[in-house]
Order: sequence, then C-alpha cells, then structure tokens
Amino acid sequence: MRSLIVALSLVFCSLALAGPPDASPALIEKGKATFTINCVPCHGATGSGDGPAAVALNPKPRDFTKEPLKNGEKPEELFKTVSEGLKGTPMVGFAHLPEEERWGLTYFVLQLRNAGKPPAAAAKPAAGAAKPGAKAGAKK
Ligand code: HEC
Repeated sequence: MRSLIVALSLVFCSLALAGPPDASPALIEKGKATFTINCVPCHGATGSGDGPAAVALNPKPRDFTKEPLKNGEKPEELFKTVSEGLKGTPMVGFAHLPEEERWGLTYFVLQLRNAGKPPAAAAKPAAGAAKPGAKAGAKK
C-alpha cells in the first residue's frame, strides 16, 4: 500500500514537472481557501509571516510577499516547496493535500507576492490567466 502511494506520488510529481496547470481564477480561489485553513496560522492572511502561531516558531516564517524565496518562485519550484516543505524548518510539506489544491496554493502565494505588481507577473504567462469569474464555483 505504502509503495503504491509512493509510486503514485512519483507519477504526480513527473506530471507536475511536465507542466503546471493554468492559473485560473477558480484554481486560485481553491488555493485561497486551503491557504486559510493550512497556512494562515503561521504565515498570516497576507503571507507577511504574522500568523498567530508564528511567535512560537524558530525560524519564523519570513514575509514571503517581499523576501526572495529560498527554493525559487517559478510555479514548479513553489509547488515543490509546498509539497515537500523546507527541511530543518517548521515549514512542513503538504503532500497529503490533493495536487490540485497544491497548485492552487502555489498560485495563491504567487498572487500574494505580486499584490501591487501587474498580474501578468504573477504566474506563468498563461493566456487568459486573469479572466475574472470565468468558472468560479463551476466545479466542486
Ligand atoms: C507550522 C508553521 C507553518 C505552516 C503551517 C506553513 N508554513 Fe510555510 N513556512 C514556515 C516557516 C517557519 C517558513 C520559513 C522557513 C525559513 O525561512 O527557513 C516557511 C516558508 C514558506 C515559504 C517560503 C519558501 C521559500 O522557498 O523560501 C512558502 C512559500 C511557504 N512557507 C508556504 C506555505 C504554504 C502555502 C503553507 C500552507 C499549505 C505553509 N507555508 C504552511 C512555517 C509554516
């Protein structure tokens, strides 16, 4: 069973490397919802590192809206960080979340990073990435 899970994760990883999905508004919404549950306690609602649990952490979550990302900020790199965490820090991996949610988190983090910058810089330059309300809520 365990090896099946490992095998499946490998398949997912190679799919992920094959290419990130488009940063659709629906996917980013999904990311925002799961960010609120899983990440806000440490990172705070805007990613500035002021979540209620942050005071107790060492090292503390940095302001990932401003500071360079140690593991890179291409969608693929950030997806990997979200999936595997940062070794030796309280930033654990979230591989247990469905892949789609992790992509949502990836793009939501990029959106937080790019708040105030033109949206085109937010993610990969996917055509139609910024279409508002295109299919929000269409799929559960
Ligand atoms: C238990 C607290 C905690 C939780 C929960 C947590 N993080 Fe982190 N995160 C951290 C800490 C601490 C760091 C900073 C580590 C460092 O600077 O070495 C970090 C770093 C990061 C970074 C910067 C990575 C880099 O390459 O520099 C990102 C992005 C990030 N977290 C995203 C998330 C997301 C998305 C979630 C929710 C799925 C999440 N974190 C949940 C504590 C947490």
